[in-house]
Amino acid sequence: MAILVTGGAGYIGSHTVVELQNAGYEVVVLDNLSNASEKSLQRVEQITGKPVTFYKADILDKAALEDIFAKENIDSVIHFAGLKAVGESVQKPWEYYNNNITGTLTLLQVMREHGVKNIIFSSSATVYGTPAQVPVTEETPKGECTNPYGWTKSMLEQILQDIQKADSEWNVILLRYFNPIGAHKSGLIGENPSGIPNNLMPYITQVAVGKREELGVFGDDYPTPDGTCIRDYVHVVDLAIGHVKALKKIEDKAGLCIYNLGTGKGSSVLDIVHSFKEATGVPIPYSIKERRAGDIPENYANAEKAYRELGWKAQYGIKEMCEDSWRWQSKNPDGYGE
Ligand code: NAD
Ligand code: UD1
Repeated sequence: MAILVTGGAGYIGSHTVVELQNAGYEVVVLDNLSNASEKSLQRVEQITGKPVTFYKADILDKAALEDIFAKENIDSVIHFAGLKAVGESVQKPWEYYNNNITGTLTLLQVMREHGVKNIIFSSSATVYGTPAQVPVTEETPKGECTNPYGWTKSMLEQILQDIQKADSEWNVILLRYFNPIGAHKSGLIGENPSGIPNNLMPYITQVAVGKREELGVFGDDYPTPDGTCIRDYVHVVDLAIGHVKALKKIEDKAGLCIYNLGTGKGSSVLDIVHSFKEATGVPIPYSIKERRAGDIPENYANAEKAYRELGWKAQYGIKEMCEDSWRWQSKNPDGYGE
């Protein structure tokens, strides 16, 4: 039996394929390579010493999905495939709703037709909107998203819950990621943003490697100790391991489960800038800019439920996240070079 990993050539997907192979799972990857390079999968093979079965295919292409499900003996799906750029989603809402929602509905239809009813879905802390209090637990009510990307996550959570409610044979695990950063220890795989990075850590590493002059810190007048926003940064390898634990939960019968994947610890933007210097020796020049629209002052997880029910707990701290992000960026200044 194999695990189908959609979006498996991407940042979190490629790290998850490594952990799945290390745990002995047979993995089939599907990706349309719209935001990834096939080289990531060659690097995965280099790390694990095991071949990865890869299909270049789109989740919107029902015939291609049917072909994969007919050929491969798929037992469960880990569904990463989706568009994820917040700003772009505001400019191109139709493309985001179509890709993320129609694509997922197409995938679910083919899964159902083939009797595959196990899915782990990449959700986000963004579904909490502006939480009334932190840390957020899974019981914290979902909130208003500030952009179409966030709404696709919130809506897909609802769709998946309704499908599970109507047919209890489904196992649906919604994983709400906080802020994944870091890279595999080998420095062979990592985050490979195209164009100017939107997210904090890839921007920092591009400053460190000399591709950008300085970091703009978006606002220092938030109601936080140093005035910059607080987030829960989590090592991508910890996140990847969370998916392996979620699969084990499905093997024992999950029904519907929702888990926060975070460390439970908040760090400010300036904490990250200073930790990066401490961990790598590379200073990050920065200047304070206007607040970025849609940012919330503070968000971090209560991740105790994932510990209680999955036995999952983040092992890595900010120091390793900085070291590993830097190892990847400095060994691969142009990412996968495409
Ligand atoms: P990523 O862009 O590196 O990976 C997504 C992959 O999906 C890419 O390889 C892309 O080529 C592929 N893809 C996109 N649309 C597709 C389609 N229609 N058919 C087939 N493949 C398609 O992003 P990531 O950071 O690895 O994120 C993985 C998932 O986790 C996404 O769903 C994302 O929204 C979610 N997520 C990410 C973060 C984060 O901070 N990185 C936080 C919360 C949730
Ligand atoms: C963002 C998205 C979120 C998405 C996540 C992962 C928004 C509002 N939220 O989360 O929906 O799930 O990315 O893709 O876009 N920062 C700077 N300078 C920079 C970049 C970031 O100061 O150049 C600050 C931000 O203001 C924020 C923090 O760093 O306070 C983290 O930003 P980022 O990495 O973009 O993550 P989120 O905003 O938490």
